[in-house]
Amino acid sequence: MYVVGARPNFMKIAPIMDEMVNFPDDFEQYLVHTGQHYDANMSAVFFEELGMPRPAVNLEVGSGSHAQQTAQIMQRFEPILLEYRPDWLVVPGDVNSTLACALVASKLGVKVAHVEAGLRSFDRDMPEEINRILTDHLSDLLFTTEPSGNVNLRREGIADSKVHFVGNTMIDTLVRLLPSAQVRWASIRSQLGLENYVLVTLHRPSNVDDPFVLSEMIHALLEIGLATQVVFPVHPRTRQRIASLGINMADKNVMLTEPLGYLDFLALEANASLVLTDSGGVQEETTYLGVPCLTVRPNTERPITLTVGTNQLVSNNREAIVASAQSAIMLDQHRSVLVRPELWDGFAARRIVNVLREMST
Ligand code: UD1
Ligand code: UDP
Repeated sequence: MYVVGARPNFMKIAPIMDEMVNFPDDFEQYLVHTGQHYDANMSAVFFEELGMPRPAVNLEVGSGSHAQQTAQIMQRFEPILLEYRPDWLVVPGDVNSTLACALVASKLGVKVAHVEAGLRSFDRDMPEEINRILTDHLSDLLFTTEPSGNVNLRREGIADSKVHFVGNTMIDTLVRLLPSAQVRWASIRSQLGLENYVLVTLHRPSNVDDPFVLSEMIHALLEIGLATQVVFPVHPRTRQRIASLGINMADKNVMLTEPLGYLDFLALEANASLVLTDSGGVQEETTYLGVPCLTVRPNTERPITLTVGTNQLVSNNREAIVASAQSAIMLDQHRSVLVRPELWDGFAARRIVNVLREMST
């Protein structure tokens, strides 16, 4: 049984389900959607574009405080797990749905496999950091995307025998769908009237929940927009908060759009002059694509995107963002020869399925 709930989960689980289909004698598979994300452009669009099967169950929990959301997922998930009694529960990433379902499973004696284990920002102000640590410590199998994950897990006393460095299933999805995204490029480019542009995504509470910080960042984007187009598909957490700032964005070179489907977003990522983000997944995707990325955060749990990839951290004040963006655009740091993290090769899901099959014989 697999759990998905929030936008980045779909890209991480789809390739595993695709691969598992090849082994019907070994495993039946069921998908549970917690309903943490529910807008069509935060959920349904990915089922369609990634070709995912319909969930067997949708818990329809919706939004709420951390405690409300986590507790609702746990309450609604427990009877499902008791009904289906899977041998393995596979949970991806670091969202509330991940931790809630891992906790229910481990208390019922269902083995938990964590996809994207071991990442650490060492910043407990991030709700995701708490979800990562607790999920890893509840898990029986831990699949890491980069070597830092193995180092972190060993330091925390998790047995090496449970940990498998397999690569990145989000990159599996990218590898599979990049050709389809490139086909979409011409139409999204003309639809948005794009030449050279900076692509922006922002949704971390530390950046968007404080009106002063968010206002500084929007002013930075307006300033970057004086020199180059800015395209900003706005996450629902961020939408109302921008509106309540009351900043006049009309006639400016900063284009706010609804959240985009995966193929259009990937096309925009692959063809951007620069990506400015606070997303975890986008740091990884730009690394794979060789597109320069500025991450507006004081830290990253994905250090390989800094050491091997194209990622750079920038603080969330206006001057720092504008200066870093200007110099990144001027230096044009697109990779002509691509250097990619080890095992980010499109076959992470195959490695995961192999381990699960070996564990079950
Ligand atoms: C969640 C994850 C975060 C992940 C992000 C991916 C947690 C703690 N956070 O953050 O790690 O990076 O998803 O996008 O799990 N909303 C809608 N429609 C939706 C979903 C949300 O309008 O379909 C709005 C609601 O007002 C909601 C707010 O967005 O209160 C935040 O949603 P929530 O799922 O709590 O957290 P995210 O910020 O999306
Ligand atoms: N993404 C998308 N449409 C958008 C913005 C992002 O399809 O408008 C994809 C992006 O390509 C990546 C994933 O969503 O695969 C990242 O999710 P998000 O940034 O919401 O979460 P995080 O990775 O920060 O947890």
